[in-house]
Amino acid sequence: MALFTAKPADGVVWITGGSTGIGAQSAIRFANQGFTVFVSARSEKDLDKLARSYSGKGEIRYLPLDVTNRTACQKALDDIRGQGFEVAVALFNAGMFEHMKGSELTLDGFEKTFAVNFSGVVNCLVPVVDQMKRIGKGQIAVVASVSGYGGLRLASAYGASKAALINMCESLKFDFDAMNIKIQVVNPGFIDTPMTEQNKFPMPFLMPLDKAADRLVASMKKDMFEITFPKRFTWLLKFINILPYPLYFWLVGRGTSGGKKK
Ligand SMILES: NC(=O)c1ccc[n+]([C@@H]2O[C@H](COP(=O)([O-])OP(=O)(O)OC[C@H]3O[C@@H](n4cnc5c(N)ncnc54)[C@H](OP(=O)(O)O)[C@@H]3O)[C@@H](O)[C@H]2O)c1
Repeated sequence: MALFTAKPADGVVWITGGSTGIGAQSAIRFANQGFTVFVSARSEKDLDKLARSYSGKGEIRYLPLDVTNRTACQKALDDIRGQGFEVAVALFNAGMFEHMKGSELTLDGFEKTFAVNFSGVVNCLVPVVDQMKRIGKGQIAVVASVSGYGGLRLASAYGASKAALINMCESLKFDFDAMNIKIQVVNPGFIDTPMTEQNKFPMPFLMPLDKAADRLVASMKKDMFEITFPKRFTWLLKFINILPYPLYFWLVGRGTSGGKKK
């Protein structure tokens, strides 16, 4: 049986991390399909700029939000309902990346990364699922990363938080399918966004942002569980991750030996 795919008449789209990068470009694409889109992030200035500059078929509204604050996440959803809408599509995309060198570990780095990348998703997911359960349908996409496939240099906190998201989505799919809630996990490779601008290491197959957002939003109309791009890179990583560990460490070590923070 086909999984649920929302149309504008079913409700609105809610995107966390919607002020810049993948979230903002996805918001524009959903709005162009005729959806009302709510974007959330901490920077009200960036959200306001995006909402004001949009003039297409649909509409972009914004709700400033720090996803690490669980009360604020519930309140954001209440605000959407207060404006007369149900969320038909949730794209949980807010995230951060902090280099974590093995010789310079910090508890704060781990705590902050998990608070934003993992708990930040859960804080929004739980109330949204309550709402979708009540109306009997919905679709959710969680932006993880190919860093969640296996350990990469400098990504001990980031990769672990994304691996947790992938595992959580796999686990939820068993129940959500039966609840008419489509869940998808998005595992991008390197995409040209403000987040990757900070990287001082080579980023193979770096994908332009427009192309990535096109791919993401189009794939959310399909029933595949995992949305991943650019495929040349992400499937190579999938393959490397099934190799025996000695080979895995050799290949990834060589491939990322330029990965020292400059
Ligand atoms: N770019 C890549 O190569 C790549 C690859 C794999 C996965 N990803 C994932 O894709 C997602 C989007 O990243 P991006 O590349 O588009 O980078 P980006 O432009 O830096 O977007 C990150 C978004 O998250 C928001 N955000 C960060 N902390 C937040 C918080 N505490 N509460 C609410 N919003 C918060 C940011 O806005 P504020 O700072 O205003 O809050 C911004 O809107 C992330 O989850 C990232 O891990 C990116």
